[in-house]
Amino acid sequence: MISTGGVDFVAALYRRYAADLLAVVEQQRATAADGRCRPGLDDLEAEITYLLLRQLRPEHVVEIGTSGGRTTSWLLSALRDNGSGRLVSFHRARHPSVVPDELAADRWTVHTGDVRARIDALPETTDYLLLDAAHTARFGRWYVRTVFPRLASGTPVGVHEVYRGRSTWARGEGGVVLDWLAERDVPHFTVAPRRAPQIVAALTDLRRELGVGDARTAGANPMIWFEMP
Ligand SMILES: C[S@@+](CC[C@H](N)C(=O)[O-])C[C@H]1O[C@@H](n2cnc3c(N)ncnc32)[C@H](O)[C@@H]1O
Repeated sequence: MISTGGVDFVAALYRRYAADLLAVVEQQRATAADGRCRPGLDDLEAEITYLLLRQLRPEHVVEIGTSGGRTTSWLLSALRDNGSGRLVSFHRARHPSVVPDELAADRWTVHTGDVRARIDALPETTDYLLLDAAHTARFGRWYVRTVFPRLASGTPVGVHEVYRGRSTWARGEGGVVLDWLAERDVPHFTVAPRRAPQIVAALTDLRRELGVGDARTAGANPMIWFEMP
């Protein structure tokens, strides 16, 4: 459980999957060099997403907001390395994709159009949900009312762009989700430096020790993770 296990839980995953993670970091660097698509996630939040999928081995992963597919590639890499699992992604409009065919293989389905009109396309069960679509309060209200009730208790959820900037995003989608969690007393985990500087420092040291990424961790890493109550 990431929300209660915190940094010790995450550090153990870094150690357990270090070799595989290093290979995916290299693979993602090559994709970044492609230049057709901006990085979706910052380093820490991308790596932790990969590590969670390795540890939890979800069969059905849902990604709302795939865009060019940088984050999608992290998700698919974890499913490939697990040897099981499928990903269903949504985006509003078609976008040049950086997802290699061999990674998509038969494990990826992508739907184009407003997800609010495609709720039927969600798998019957979702074992991991990643949200990185519209960052408005309106969109946040839609999914806490429509998507969250479909998820079983304990389902891990990652929401991007919550702790970006000073307060802007917390008034939009992020504010809706944080309120929803607070009303239910649900804890969440983040590696946003402005919220969790000690966690970021500890994971930066660990990454350096394991040879993952640079010696320095850059980026706002604005994602939060929690488990559905
Ligand atoms: C910030 S980008 C996602 C970036 C992506 N995670 C990456 O790694 O590059 C936002 C994405 O959400 C999608 N999106 C926004 N509103 C949406 C909606 N109502 N339904 C479906 N997709 C939506 C956009 O089409 C776009 O693909």
